[in-house]
Amino acid sequence: MASRAPEQGNMAVWGSREFDNHEQVCFFSDEATGLRAIVAIHSTALGPAAGGTRFKLYANDSEAVDDALRLSRAMSYKSALAGLPVGGGKAVIIGDPARLKTRALLHAFGRYVDRIGRHFATGEDVGISVADIETMNEVTPFVAGTSAGAGDPSVHTATGVMHGLRAVLERRFGKSDFTGMKIAVQGLGAVGWGVAQRVHDAGAQLVVADVREEVVARAVDRLGAISVPTARIHASDVDIYVPCALGGVVTERTAGEIRAGAVAGAANNQLATAAAGLALAERGILFAPDYVINAGGVISGLEACSAMPGRSLAQFAPLDESLAAIHDRLIEIFDRADREKRTPEATAEQMARELIGR
Ligand code: NAI
Repeated sequence: MASRAPEQGNMAVWGSREFDNHEQVCFFSDEATGLRAIVAIHSTALGPAAGGTRFKLYANDSEAVDDALRLSRAMSYKSALAGLPVGGGKAVIIGDPARLKTRALLHAFGRYVDRIGRHFATGEDVGISVADIETMNEVTPFVAGTSAGAGDPSVHTATGVMHGLRAVLERRFGKSDFTGMKIAVQGLGAVGWGVAQRVHDAGAQLVVADVREEVVARAVDRLGAISVPTARIHASDVDIYVPCALGGVVTERTAGEIRAGAVAGAANNQLATAAAGLALAERGILFAPDYVINAGGVISGLEACSAMPGRSLAQFAPLDESLAAIHDRLIEIFDRADREKRTPEATAEQMARELIGR
């Protein structure tokens, strides 16, 4: 085979700053379909690893490895703090899904997942849909999020965010309901729309922004929402800012502009840097660590783990109980953060590492 692009030569796994003693990192390729995939398993201390598959074009292979390692560690934290008997892992398929994704490639990937399926099960992420998971499911049971199973995880993520928002209401505003609260939802996609609808039904006033004008118009029309420009939603005069679009939305600059008393939403990796989190804390803005409040999707994906030898769904708490526990876990994190005079995100990471024995 022809030699590959020079940037591949610098790829580091053991030396990656994201490595954090991953238990296992697998590289898979299938020449016939052009598949190149990485499965990273951070920890199986609490059970077999679970984590979605991301199908994405990366600038180079190092970026793909780092992404797999970082996301897989985050899954360890997320599952541990959700009280799930599963570990953390993540898969990435390298390449442009619009160009590369075929049924044959998804089958090839599914067969590799099957090969390590006693230790890893997967589901949707960026670039992988419910239909793609169903295609993989033709060759392996180690997948979650099929329409015959728990279905689209975003519904459960939205429910989980609502439980988290209730914890924020209690802790930051001394309230137990949404009446009279102003909530800014950034991104009205699968999760954001679900959250917007639920907080509206619960009596809150909505402020919304999305790059898709039609969905904003629908929120104004159906939910009585106030529309604001996408670049300014973080600075809205509201009680809670709920990021449900992109990561990295809280920077040191935007933290200084946020007028809400709390930031709590589904988007992954909302804090661009640790300093951004500190900036929120210094201004008395309560932050709900994203991988705690957005755990509903992974909680709902447990049926994939039930396919593993020696496991059954009966070993897991009912879905609604596990989703409701997001409230309690956040309260526990906020309490401990107060006691230890740390940020909620630092406390959450510490608690997760204690749970997985790191
Ligand atoms: P989605 O793709 O359905 O929705 C994202 C929405 O954000 C879209 O409506 C899009 O138009 C909008 N958007 C994009 N750029 C924007 C911008 N600059 N300003 C405002 N809106 C913008 O994605 P989904 O599934 O709703 O996920 C939302 C976030 O939650 C993502 O960060 C995702 O990683 C995270 N998440 C999702 C879970 C799930 O179950 N779907 C589980 C855990 C985290």
